[in-house]
Amino acid sequence: MTSTAPNNASPYGTLPPASSPATRKPISLPRLHEMHARGEKITMLTAYDATFAAVADAAGVETLLVGDSLGMVCQGLSSTVGVTLETMRYHVESVHRGVQRVQGTAWIIGDLPYGSYHESKEQAFRSAAVLMQAGAHMVKLEGGGWTADTTRFLVERGIPVCAHLGLTPQSVHALGGYRVQGKTEASAMQLKRDALELQDAGATLLVLEMVPAALSAEVTLALPQCATIGIGAGVDTAGQVLVLHDMLGVNLGKNAKFVRNFMADAGSVRGAMEAYVRAVKDGSFPVNSEHAW
Ligand code: KIV
Repeated sequence: MTSTAPNNASPYGTLPPASSPATRKPISLPRLHEMHARGEKITMLTAYDATFAAVADAAGVETLLVGDSLGMVCQGLSSTVGVTLETMRYHVESVHRGVQRVQGTAWIIGDLPYGSYHESKEQAFRSAAVLMQAGAHMVKLEGGGWTADTTRFLVERGIPVCAHLGLTPQSVHALGGYRVQGKTEASAMQLKRDALELQDAGATLLVLEMVPAALSAEVTLALPQCATIGIGAGVDTAGQVLVLHDMLGVNLGKNAKFVRNFMADAGSVRGAMEAYVRAVKDGSFPVNSEHAW
């Protein structure tokens, strides 16, 4: 009798085995809050397709951000501004399938792209619903105080929210480039006010991108209910995120100062991801003197 079961050893590659299924429980919103409360660092990587998402999940990366950085690393755009909601939906679905096929542990965050939440709270809800129905567990949106009402509106409707302050790449033209944010006293104060407002509005996570390490440490301490996830923001955040291609050393340009190439000593993609998880958990990445401002 011939089997109709799919052959896992296809010529197109196989998905990785789970690392230790018995001890790995799916990440949920309460688990993220628990990790934050007990000071366990939260690991995040970007993911854009099923295979890399499955490998990251098997390697123990807790949260996968389907970032609109895919516009730059997958589509070859010069910024994230050209990424559409339909493109984000496609990649969220792919990542969701990859995670489900292997282990089903990672928490998936769908990035709301430029123009999909700026008009109104209702528009933001409709866009968020598209990504949630594609398999996201949470959505991310960029910006300060003006996004607080939208955040509250989404949270009240059952959509967990990750906020994003500091360098917000969708505003690259307004910011005059990919620059460190919060360097002046006034901008640091504004960032702190925005962070508190977003926590009050119900954001569970807050990405802090390219802000001075001392400022992100201060913001992290001020937010007991909202875990900061740093990228170029020093070691004292509640968690860390890197763009997948950067930490694997396969981006086209020079790596930014805040990146470490985890592939260099790892020998495999999964090994690189496991090394990243270990380094974030034990606080050996990032190193403030090397990867922060
Ligand atoms: O789009 C993205 O990948 C991001 C991260 C850099 C935080 O927003």
